[in-house]
Amino acid sequence: MATSVHELDLPEIDLDIDLDRDQVLALFDEVRARHWLARTPLGYLVCRHEDVTAILRDRRWHSAASMITEMAGLSGEGSVFDRQRESILTLEGEPHARLRRIVAGAFTPKQADKLRPFMREVVGGLVDAFASEGRCELVADVCEPYPIPIVCELLGAPKADWKLFSHWATEIFKIFNNDLLNDMPAIEKASNELDDYVRAMVEQRRSQPADDLLTDLIAAEEAGDKLSTDEMVGLAGAVLMAGTDTTRNQLACSVALLAQHPEQWKLLAEQPELAPRAVEETMRYLGSVRGTGRFASEDIEFHDVLFPKGTLVATSLSGANYDPETWQAPTVFDITAIRESPQMTFGSGIHFCLGANLARAELQEALHLLARRMPNLAIDGAIEWKPSTVGIWGPARLPLRFDPGH
Ligand code: HEM
Repeated sequence: MATSVHELDLPEIDLDIDLDRDQVLALFDEVRARHWLARTPLGYLVCRHEDVTAILRDRRWHSAASMITEMAGLSGEGSVFDRQRESILTLEGEPHARLRRIVAGAFTPKQADKLRPFMREVVGGLVDAFASEGRCELVADVCEPYPIPIVCELLGAPKADWKLFSHWATEIFKIFNNDLLNDMPAIEKASNELDDYVRAMVEQRRSQPADDLLTDLIAAEEAGDKLSTDEMVGLAGAVLMAGTDTTRNQLACSVALLAQHPEQWKLLAEQPELAPRAVEETMRYLGSVRGTGRFASEDIEFHDVLFPKGTLVATSLSGANYDPETWQAPTVFDITAIRESPQMTFGSGIHFCLGANLARAELQEALHLLARRMPNLAIDGAIEWKPSTVGIWGPARLPLRFDPGH
C-alpha cells in the first residue's frame, strides 16, 4: 500500500522567506538531489519538470486559486469571492471544460495577431515620451501602462475609459495584498463597477456587433451551447485579473535579463524573427509566474505516495524551467537556442494560460520595438526586485540608459 505523504521523511523548505532567485534555484537543486517532493509550511512542493507537468495534467488535482479567500475566511452569498469561485481560473471538470471549449476560438494566435498593430502603436507611444532623453524607468514608463489599453482594445472599451480599467485593476489586485479584511470594501466596489460596465457593453454589442472579444463571445457557440451574460462578465474580469500584472512583470523580467546580455539585445534589434524565441527563453529563464498550487480533490496515489484528500501541493514552474533532466545547460541564457521542451511559465494542463497567444504577441512586439529604439541598453544604477514572496513577481524598478533619439 502507498505510504501517506504526511509520514515521509522529506527535505523541508520555506519559500516564504526572503531568498533571492539564485538561492531558490540552488535550494531546488538540493531538493531534487534528495527527493522528488519537499515539505513546506503550507503543504508540499514539486519542482521536477516531470512531476509538475504530471500534477497539472491530472484532473483530480484542483486549482488552489479558490482557496485564497477560503483560507482568509471570506466568502458570502453574492460576494466578489463567490464570483471568483465560479471563475474560469477556479472551475474544474465539465463546467470548466465547457467554458474553455466555447471561448477557445476567441483566443487563437490569429485573434492575437489582429491586435499586433495596436500593440506596436501603444509601446511606440510610450517610448516616444522618453526616447530623446536616453533614460527611463521601464516599470513605470512602459510595463505598468502597457497591458491595460490592450485588454481594453480586446474587450472593445474606448480610450477614454483606460483610466477606469487601470483603477479597477489596481483595486482588484488588492486581493493579493494579504490584508483582505481591510481591502475587501475597495475590492468589492471595483469588481461591482467593472461588472456593471461590462454588462452594459454586452447589452450594447447584442444590438450593435463590433470587432472585439465581447462580440466574438456573444457569437461563440459550441454544439448549440452559448455563454450567459454573467459568464461573459466573469470572463472579462478574469482576463483583466490574469492578463495585466502577469504581462507587466514578464516584460520587466525579460528586459532586465536582456539588458544584462547586450549582444543578445543587439541581435534582437537586428533580427525581428528572433522575438518569439526571445520571449520563450526569457520566460523560461526568468518567469513572472514562478509557481501555482493544486489540492487533492480526492485521495490520490502518485509515485507510490498517498496524498489524502485536501492535501496542498505547490507546483514550481521555475523549478521545472531549470530541471537539468529536461534542459541541457538550463543556466545558460540564449535567445538563439532551440530548446528541447516548451517553457513552463504559462502552466500546463486544463488551466494552461488562456491568454498565452495574446501575451506572446504583446511581449514579442514590445521586446523587438524596445530593442530597436533603445540601442546600447544598460542598467542605470540597480534593479529593485519585488520581494520573493510576491506571487506575480518581477522588478519593482528598472532604471535604464541607452543611446537617445531612436
Ligand atoms: C506573460 C504573461 C502571462 C503569464 C506568465 C501567465 C501565466 C498563467 C499561468 C501560469 C496560468 C495557469 C495558472 C494555474 O494553472 O493555476 C494562467 C492562466 C490563465 N491566464 Fe495567463 N498568463 C499571462 C498572460 C495572460 C493574459 C494576457 C491573459 C488574458 C487574456 C491571461 C489569461 C489567463 C486566464 C483566463 C487563465 C485561466 C485559464 C484557466 O484556468 O482555464 N493570461 N496564466
